[in-house]
Amino acid sequence: MNKTLRKAVIAGNWKMNMTPSQTTALINEMKPLVADADCEVVLCVPFVDIAAAIEAAKGSNIKIGAENVHFKASGAFTGEISADMLKETGVEYVVVGHSERRQYFGETDQTVNLRSLAAIKAGLKPIICVGETLEQRELGYTETLLKYQTKMALTNVSAEELKNVVIAYEPVWAIGTGVTATADQADEGNGYVRAAIAEAYGADVAETVTIQYGGSMNAANAAELVSKVNVDGGLIGGASLKAADFSIIVKAASEQK
Ligand code: 13P
Repeated sequence: MNKTLRKAVIAGNWKMNMTPSQTTALINEMKPLVADADCEVVLCVPFVDIAAAIEAAKGSNIKIGAENVHFKASGAFTGEISADMLKETGVEYVVVGHSERRQYFGETDQTVNLRSLAAIKAGLKPIICVGETLEQRELGYTETLLKYQTKMALTNVSAEELKNVVIAYEPVWAIGTGVTATADQADEGNGYVRAAIAEAYGADVAETVTIQYGGSMNAANAAELVSKVNVDGGLIGGASLKAADFSIIVKAASEQK
């Protein structure tokens, strides 16, 4: 197991927060704080904030992402946004299959796969989210479920394309609850995801894939979480809305080698 084979990615997921003007202000505040980061720094923002975010992040090391993408190229899908539309805005990343979308908007393992394929085809880097509910964990299905979700999400994704894919292990019970997985639980969950990739693509490929942890990651617990061998950064919700907290998380990941 060699952490230097993959890059750490710290990505904020703003969810349904921030207006365009608030976006500009927050990114301007963040830029100097993360300027010397030794990891990839990404902010995934609501669709309407993308233009402001791209403009504010110009010339900095902050990359911008979206929070969702539709799987069809175009057509009668009112309210949806295609991968080509996103690509043209200048975003580099897109969150796919977040548990909130699975829970509230009917996202399935199949649509997560289709959205991931559409993102890859357009030249975007999907951050694919997987994770078990508390009930699934208590029933002992965490490993089975994480492996299944990972393999389903990556159906028809080639080893070459996998180079542009990030997976985020986000236990549903740890999201927005203040209950963080322990560093060992995060490492174990990420390890199941890596094992699934190894089963599908081989161990050498699996060693190179960035696998984040997400779920109540914050300035206080980030260093311990990212110290784990399988934890290659994080997908941050609430703490990514605060410049100081987010920059501490970026620093923690930068100091990991
Ligand atoms: P919180 O960091 O607010 O728990 O959210 C995590 C998350 O869902 C990131 O995608």
